[in-house]
Amino acid sequence: MSKNTQNLKEKMAEAVKGGGEKRIEKQHKQKKLTARERVDYLLDEGSFEEIGILVTHRTTDFGMENQQYYGDGVVTGYGTINGRLVYVFAQDFTVFGGSLSETHAEKICKIMDHAMKVGAPVIGLNDSGGARIQEGVKSLGGYADIFYRNVQASGVVPQISAIMGPCAGGAVYSPAITDFTFMVQDTSYMFVTGPNVVKTVTNEEVTSEELGGASTHSTKSGVTHRTAANDISCLEDIKSLLSYIPQNNKVTAEKLPYEFGDEVREELESIVPDSSNKPYDMHEVIKGIIDENTFFEIHKNYADNIIVGFARLGGRSIGIVANQPMSLAGVLDVESSRKAARFTRFCDCFNIPLLVLVDVPGFLPGTDQEWNGIILHGAKLLYALSEATVPRVTVITRKAYGGAYDVMNSKHIGADLNYAWPSAEIAVMGAKGASEIIFRKEIKEAEDPEIKLSEKEKEYAEKFANPFIAAQRGFIDEVIMPRDTRRKLLKAFNMLENKEILRIDRKHGNIPL
Ligand code: HXC
Repeated sequence: MSKNTQNLKEKMAEAVKGGGEKRIEKQHKQKKLTARERVDYLLDEGSFEEIGILVTHRTTDFGMENQQYYGDGVVTGYGTINGRLVYVFAQDFTVFGGSLSETHAEKICKIMDHAMKVGAPVIGLNDSGGARIQEGVKSLGGYADIFYRNVQASGVVPQISAIMGPCAGGAVYSPAITDFTFMVQDTSYMFVTGPNVVKTVTNEEVTSEELGGASTHSTKSGVTHRTAANDISCLEDIKSLLSYIPQNNKVTAEKLPYEFGDEVREELESIVPDSSNKPYDMHEVIKGIIDENTFFEIHKNYADNIIVGFARLGGRSIGIVANQPMSLAGVLDVESSRKAARFTRFCDCFNIPLLVLVDVPGFLPGTDQEWNGIILHGAKLLYALSEATVPRVTVITRKAYGGAYDVMNSKHIGADLNYAWPSAEIAVMGAKGASEIIFRKEIKEAEDPEIKLSEKEKEYAEKFANPFIAAQRGFIDEVIMPRDTRRKLLKAFNMLENKEILRIDRKHGNIPL
């Protein structure tokens, strides 16, 4: 063996040890895999090709010249997941706590540049103490180089972040720009400023977990899209997500082979209750429409008055946005509008057709909502759907009231096909509220106002709380039996497969952010 070959062998052996046995042990004790173990699990066996394994940092302050680790705290490269090319970076907490140096950032930027040129997803596995403290502004510059690329890649290639340890300070803004952020329960946290700073500035006592753990971000802030019990299930989540999305914005997601059979689903007939105020679970409707066991829900525990997620319909990947009558009667509020708008925009960026299921009593009234900007946030969903050029199909299962009728993918804002079930009620508002306003005088003067109100309510409901007036005007293309919904949608999305819309030439619109 030549001297150089021996030299290379030794360097490679040293590189894969990261920060050394002791630190790897500490990582394992905390129920965390190492960066290399994560990459190995995520990618197809033997597919990983590492880029930059021999990179080292260039700092000479604070005795750093004597602390050199090959790879400089991040494992970067490319490989395949179920045969599909992806680029990956995995921060190595065993080397300087996975902190980001100038060279660490350069390695990440390099694979992001590759991904954009080639058109393949970027997956970032984050586990880092933040900016490399010994490097100062060089590290901050490195972050900005990554943020800039995150923005350039947005809508070009899918970007997925997994938070598998600390992610603090400005470092949180890279995952925040990416399309999806997954977190691991108990071992990961994200915050702009940690508990100590919070205590100093606001005098609040809060733990890292309370401030920015997976539970917090999956329920309160919506920063994370999915939470996993451990590293392995987080990596599995990434693989599942990838199966629904395409490589880049120029292609569509893989369509699995599918043969038409008996597509009638009787179970859909009995889901919507007789009374229009009784809740039911929209997941049951989704289950009755899609291919078996294919729903991959996003933001499951955040703003659960709306459901969003990916599914397969006849083997085709679709995005679903659905009001959930089980939670707050499916009303649109600040959080649910933002959640649905963000999901809609992802689907539109990456050519994933949209199915919108509607049972919505309107926007949530109240000072809390108004002061928190329901006007602006509701407008986000209206804007996102209006702008989406992917195939868009709507099914109104029950209520479609007021402005929410317009917003929830109505024909007027560019939906391609709009169906309604016979149970649909399409009106300016519910029959009771409407009668109280327009028949106020009559009701007040009646011998028995309550009886009068219920008479008027019935009259209004018969006249307006149905899908037929909308169907007469062509706002609804067809009133369909629930059992036929899957069959109709299979055909609709097939028919719309080659939909193309020429856009007006402009730099970009100005979505109400
Ligand atoms: C350099 C770091 C480091 C950092 C950790 N280490 N963070 N080295 N720069 N930012 C090193 C430690 O010295 C230690 O080295 C090893 O990583 C493991 O760290 P521990 O503290 O032993 O681990 P643990 O107890 O698990 O605590 C993890 C931690 C803590 C909570 C992340 O290390 C920590 O608070 N780090 C600093 C976090 C921080 O303030 N970062 C800057 C945020 S501001 P040895 O040799 O002992 O193994 C920021 C700005 C970004 O990031 C702005 C972008 C625009």
